[in-house]
Amino acid sequence: MTIKEFKKSAISELSNFYPTKEAQNITILALQETLKLNSIELFMQEDNELYEDSYEKMRNIVNRLSHYEPLHYILGYAYFRGKKYIVNEHVLIPRPETEELVEWVIDENKNLEVEILDVGCGSGCIAISLDLEIPLAVVCGVDISKEAVYISNKNSEDLNSSAIFKIADFRDEEHDLEEGFYDIIVSNPPYILKEESVVMSKSTITFEPKRALFTESVTETYYELAIFAKKYLRSSGCLYLEINEFHLKDISDSLLKAGFQKLFTKKDLSGKIRMLKASL
Ligand SMILES: C[S@@+](CC[C@H](N)C(=O)[O-])C[C@H]1O[C@@H](n2cnc3c(N)ncnc32)[C@H](O)[C@@H]1O
Repeated sequence: MTIKEFKKSAISELSNFYPTKEAQNITILALQETLKLNSIELFMQEDNELYEDSYEKMRNIVNRLSHYEPLHYILGYAYFRGKKYIVNEHVLIPRPETEELVEWVIDENKNLEVEILDVGCGSGCIAISLDLEIPLAVVCGVDISKEAVYISNKNSEDLNSSAIFKIADFRDEEHDLEEGFYDIIVSNPPYILKEESVVMSKSTITFEPKRALFTESVTETYYELAIFAKKYLRSSGCLYLEINEFHLKDISDSLLKAGFQKLFTKKDLSGKIRMLKASL
């Protein structure tokens, strides 16, 4: 069987479970990763034979995809700002909109000597990117999940980053962190309400960690996060947040109530307000 023939039959099979465009995208990405080819190489080699070991690997991937397992968990890695991060069921798969949040922090701080704290580090993608791309930054990440902290530390080591990670719950009163120490606190917290899950993919709902996605109250999550940030930021510091575009007003009110005074929003590439910066 040629690569092209396999591709066609896999897309047709996966179209029973995913919208056709997504079935095409995940099949092509799975082939690229399995055959270690970039998109142009794959296109040029489509008439080549798909050899038995690659065929077996691809069959296994397609079977798992048809049970809605996300491709990045099957592969065991995902890319963020061009770097390869280990991911598993304990960490959120890094999203493109989070790359835009990181870009914002880098743009505004790339030549500064800054202490940065990433709250809810997951795979470590935000903290490690900031550590690698802001040369004078010292970066720490925290997460409530010990499994996420383990993955973050592993990614940091594999990517030659100096970012360090530890366990902490931002809702607690005490943490192993220095008060008034950080110039920047950045976070992509869980911000989806259970009732909003109707528009989410079955893959995300079934496989990604609930604690990374959902909150009982967006207002409370951002208020608690803001109280935490106020304690650990310098008075001149900044809080950068990824936000749920549907709750901008509630999130802004939470930050103001916690004592932040200046708020700036930023749109993502699709024109949605998905980022917010707050200072004291
Ligand atoms: C949306 S994920 C973000 C992961 C990663 N920063 C990213 O952008 O891909 C939110 C993360 O916050 C963590 N988290 C949830 N509640 C927390 C809490 N109370 N304190 C610290 N971390 C928390 C979750 O375990 C999860 O890793």
